[in-house]
Amino acid sequence: MVRPRNEAEKFFSINRNSHMKCLVTGGAGFIGAHVVRELLAKQFQVVVLDDLSGGFRDNVPDAAELVRGDICDHDLVDRLFAQHGFDYVYHLAAYAAEGLSHFIKRYNYNNNLIGSVNLINAAVNHDVKSFVFTSSIAVYGANQLPMREDMIPQPEDSYGIAKLGVEQELKCSHEMFGLDYVIFRPHNVYGEYQNIGDRYRNVIGIFMNQIMQGKPLTIFGDGTQSRAFSYVGPVAAVIAGSPEVDAARNRVFNIGADQPWSVNELAKAVGQVMGVEPQIDYLPARNEVLHAYSDHSLVKECFGQAEDVSLEDGLEIMAKWALKHGARVTKPFANIEIDRNMPPSWRAQLKATPIPVVDTLPTFENPSTV
Ligand SMILES: NC(=O)c1ccc[n+]([C@@H]2O[C@H](COP(=O)([O-])OP(=O)(O)OC[C@H]3O[C@@H](n4cnc5c(N)ncnc54)[C@H](O)[C@@H]3O)[C@@H](O)[C@H]2O)c1
Repeated sequence: MVRPRNEAEKFFSINRNSHMKCLVTGGAGFIGAHVVRELLAKQFQVVVLDDLSGGFRDNVPDAAELVRGDICDHDLVDRLFAQHGFDYVYHLAAYAAEGLSHFIKRYNYNNNLIGSVNLINAAVNHDVKSFVFTSSIAVYGANQLPMREDMIPQPEDSYGIAKLGVEQELKCSHEMFGLDYVIFRPHNVYGEYQNIGDRYRNVIGIFMNQIMQGKPLTIFGDGTQSRAFSYVGPVAAVIAGSPEVDAARNRVFNIGADQPWSVNELAKAVGQVMGVEPQIDYLPARNEVLHAYSDHSLVKECFGQAEDVSLEDGLEIMAKWALKHGARVTKPFANIEIDRNMPPSWRAQLKATPIPVVDTLPTFENPSTV
């Protein structure tokens, strides 16, 4: 039987937590913004490392310290770890445009793989107690339904390959150096703080942005492809609490909603919460996994049954937020490395907008606390 905690124990627990120092990479991004709020609610001290390439300063609450910088800058990463002595690292920073990753391989591997290795090195060298990593169901590839953690990953795009590389590096760093980790493979997460201006990812945000601009909704293919769209709240809560669940140590978990929906069904549901009858513009199909949903038995067994937020309820919450904040400008990605076989709508956009030639990764100012 669980013994009720007395006041002293409760105080001790809060006091102990208040000394927990966490680094959240990508904390100015969508899921990161929710994880940061969960950690602050636990009285943790939170430092966010984010280069604001896809996130927003406004997403970070004042109670967290925001360091603007790049995870690819290993000197900065090492200095931050030396300065703060983090207990837990939540590594969410990535450019998560799965479909685009074929065309930006170098950027994808630098940012998502090498940047992650910088953090793993620092975590080993500075005795981090738990390294929490958001991987993706992109590691599974096609035709493995429902996706289960015991399946052999067969990623089909550069983004999924980079995520799998980081997962394997974490396993190897655990074996070699005892670095404890928890890996999550989320899928199609949506909700407040999402960058609805990113034209290459997050179909729900793209739809809401198109509706607010009076544009038709664009769908690749016939719209029968399906995904289990997952409201962010329960996902962020599990990620934030995971280092404190002993049974989760050094394990991999699918996380998200169970129920798949077709993109056509989604378009209708988004139209409803935004109060419009959407026009749909069907574009040529792109090269993507047609159906993706995963089995969540493991995460439920380890963390308990998460709160069930229906698609209608989750969309309603996000629509309120999106309508309050308004449409966002969408920009094409500036450094395409291969344009062959790009979806025509993406390629047309590149031609319509003169792109400055940049042959190195974006650099950011000296790290500064902002
Ligand atoms: N949203 C989803 O449906 C989903 C699904 C599966 C996995 N994930 C993973 O979850 C994590 C968070 O995703 P999200 O949807 O919140 O994305 P997001 O783009 O909203 O957040 C990512 C953040 O990382 C930052 N970032 C990117 N590169 C960086 C760098 N080099 N240095 C510092 N900061 C950098 C961006 O500025 C952004 O704030 C990612 O790792 C993503 O791969 C997301």
